[in-house]
Amino acid sequence: MTFFEAVGGEETFTRLVRRFYEGVAADPVLRPLYPEADLGPAEERLRLFLMQYWGGPRTYSERRGHPRLRMRHFPYRIGAEERDRWLAHMRAAVDELELPAHLEEPLWKYLVYAAYGMVNVPEDAEPPVVTRSFTVTDRRSDDGDEGETIRVSLS
Ligand code: HEM
Repeated sequence: MTFFEAVGGEETFTRLVRRFYEGVAADPVLRPLYPEADLGPAEERLRLFLMQYWGGPRTYSERRGHPRLRMRHFPYRIGAEERDRWLAHMRAAVDELELPAHLEEPLWKYLVYAAYGMVNVPEDAEPPVVTRSFTVTDRRSDDGDEGETIRVSLS
């Protein structure tokens, strides 16, 4: 069974995205970003994308081609505020689905991850995750033993 089926199929994604766009329609920061007067077509694109992403029908790609979502968002200024508002409306919409935790958790984690990845205002982007320390094995002595393990700290 796909995740798409497990959460209830098309009907669940329709409810999710409808509720989400009700929030967007009333949001003074997000609403002006949407170029069309009618939010209906945007709602349909997000709905089809999410269905496809989670293993449902591939209608999104049949109509729109490869998602390339980050590129498609470049025309819109998406900073931390836009991201957080987008996520707030999504959170409200996810809550209303009342999914069991084992399904809600991966859905929500994905949405948060994807929203952070859509930020295109450089100063608002999260710093890359860098390893603060790592270990190396110094084999320069070449005396046949395991070498010396050195722990390196970056900060
Ligand atoms: C982070 C905040 C975000 C903002 C402010 C935002 C805003 C927008 C805007 C203004 C559009 C154009 C409306 C349209 O013509 O469809 C759009 C399209 C779209 N967005 Fe977002 N978006 C955000 C995050 C996301 C995320 C996280 C996803 C996916 C999980 C997503 C999926 C889509 C899709 C599928 C489209 C339609 C792409 C196409 O086929 O043209 N967006 N978004």
